[in-house]
Amino acid sequence: MGIFYSEDFIEDVRSRNDIVDIISEYVPLKPSGKGYFGLCPFHSEKTPSFHVSPDKQVYHCFGCGMGGNVFTFIMAMERLDFPESVKYLAEKAGIELPDTMDSREFAMRRDIRNKLHQLNREAARFYHKVLFSAQGGQALSYLKSRGLDERTMKIFGLGFAPEGWDSIKQLLLNMGYEEELLIQAGLVVENKGRTYDRFRNRIIFPIVRPGGYVVGFGGRVIDDSLPKYLNSSDSPIFNKSSTLYGLNLIKRGQMLEYMIITEGYMDVITLYRFGFKNAVASLGTALTQQQVKLLRRYTNQVYIAYDGDKAGQQATLRGLDMLQNAGLKVKVISFPEGMDPDQILREYGSGYFKELMDNALSLVDYKLDQLRKQYDLDSVEGRTGYATEAAKILIKVPNILERDVHIRRLEAETGFSARLLYRQIEQMEALNRKDSVKKPDVGNNRYTSSHRFRFEMLPVHIKAERSLAALMAADEAYARKIAGRISDEYFEEPINAEIYNIVSGLLKAGKEISIPRVLSCVQDQSKIRQMVEIFEQQVEYDNIDKFISDCLKEVICNRLEKRRQEVKELIEQIEKEGRQGTERYNVLMNEMVALIQKISLNRQGKEGIM
Ligand code: UTP
Ligand code: MN
Repeated sequence: MGIFYSEDFIEDVRSRNDIVDIISEYVPLKPSGKGYFGLCPFHSEKTPSFHVSPDKQVYHCFGCGMGGNVFTFIMAMERLDFPESVKYLAEKAGIELPDTMDSREFAMRRDIRNKLHQLNREAARFYHKVLFSAQGGQALSYLKSRGLDERTMKIFGLGFAPEGWDSIKQLLLNMGYEEELLIQAGLVVENKGRTYDRFRNRIIFPIVRPGGYVVGFGGRVIDDSLPKYLNSSDSPIFNKSSTLYGLNLIKRGQMLEYMIITEGYMDVITLYRFGFKNAVASLGTALTQQQVKLLRRYTNQVYIAYDGDKAGQQATLRGLDMLQNAGLKVKVISFPEGMDPDQILREYGSGYFKELMDNALSLVDYKLDQLRKQYDLDSVEGRTGYATEAAKILIKVPNILERDVHIRRLEAETGFSARLLYRQIEQMEALNRKDSVKKPDVGNNRYTSSHRFRFEMLPVHIKAERSLAALMAADEAYARKIAGRISDEYFEEPINAEIYNIVSGLLKAGKEISIPRVLSCVQDQSKIRQMVEIFEQQVEYDNIDKFISDCLKEVICNRLEKRRQEVKELIEQIEKEGRQGTERYNVLMNEMVALIQKISLNRQGKEGIM
């Protein structure tokens, strides 16, 4: 056996060699849609059909069908074998190879993380103790004045950082932690050669990751001074934009019916106190892609509970699309101007909050509401502008009955007849369709006719299983959903079963799921090429959940159908031999009946009967 690199190492090398950078060194690329195009280095052509996708970290030529990842590209260009291409790119990125790598450095980095967790835990303990000591008297009564009882304070590990410049610094130095580490943790700040505590005279909210690791802190003043909140700086164990506050208290091991996303620490705590234990805060306003990814592990339905102010509403609009694009169902709770969940609960109680939840707006209604505020509906221009923009939102509503409800609303608001509004939408859809032939949003838009033809001509169940394999590799939530319904045996094409198995392995190992990550598990050039072809295939759907269940139905029915054919032949064989009375015959007949039932149920879309 030659040199063997672990999947993790390969993935590390891959992630530090962006495919666009690497390929640009050989092929001039021009941005187009979500990716880049250039002249294919693998066949001669005059118009570019060589596509590079930064999202998927793959290249794929729609002309000649060649495709792969950064390793196969280097293999081809530098005439290397797979391990050599790994070595080549590792050296290029300044990554030491495993056999020469200083393993002490790795151990050191792990040690630092461990120490940071320990030290944060000590700090949290200290702050918590201070809150209930004489020094914390004022803070404790402040928290009580905001309705918190001691039990809740304990659950959230709240604390108080005393006045003075070096309480936490001295404590941790005395415990033997080095000052450098305190600075890295963000508990101590270095300024002009002086070092002092970051959190002084503030109420402390420890930020705890699932698993109980204290990764950072938020600190609130107890008066009106500014800034109102101070947060730990980013550290090797804390990254604010990929953290959700309160996640450690969310029930594990099952998907939740819904989750509530708030802006602030106090909102989460008060919600918890009033029995809404599915709440987390995005710590500030703008929801990030990483936070959305985290959320999806817990639920399919999200209630946005942001402050009823301008900043809150803006943040909501940005966050909404991100959540929706990630396949989450979104509802927006509206609060009276200037109020947040914490205030609502304390002033009006949980019954009222529940009512607000029940009246939460769907995504479309929320967007229409926001839109309407921008127009003066008393003027013709205002009504026209509003109806035109609203139509753009309604195009994206696939369900025509749901669409009708919104149309009626628009009719009432603008005075335009429903018929007219429908025509406006139809016209826009027609325009969009024309556009989308030229630029579909998936990015890979330059199919040569032969290439597209090849995919179009595939049997439906093959298209379905390729789509399922591609979706699994692209997204953890889809992967779980699909893996929950079928096993690798359901795939007719071995390459799809292989993708299925790689993704299942990554899921089990708790690893990230993404197309680049999946490809890092494969070293065979032709397999990588086949997979890239599947990942780059263009599928169109309106509703992802429906698309997945349609594909599943297709694949499951195909397998059942095949078995039915087998059983049918076996039965005919036995009948030819005149052995109808045997037990084997009865077993087969029963299976036949069961299969026919299952097929018919699956065709009707009743799930879970396999
Ligand atoms: P808010 O200003 O809405 O505070 O900021 P809040 O949560 O309602 O706090 P209370 O009720 O006055 O105690 C929302 C969130 O934005 C972050 C904090 O995470 C806060 O909880 N924030 C706010 C900061 O990080 N720094 C700030 O100065 C203000
Ligand atoms: Mn508040």
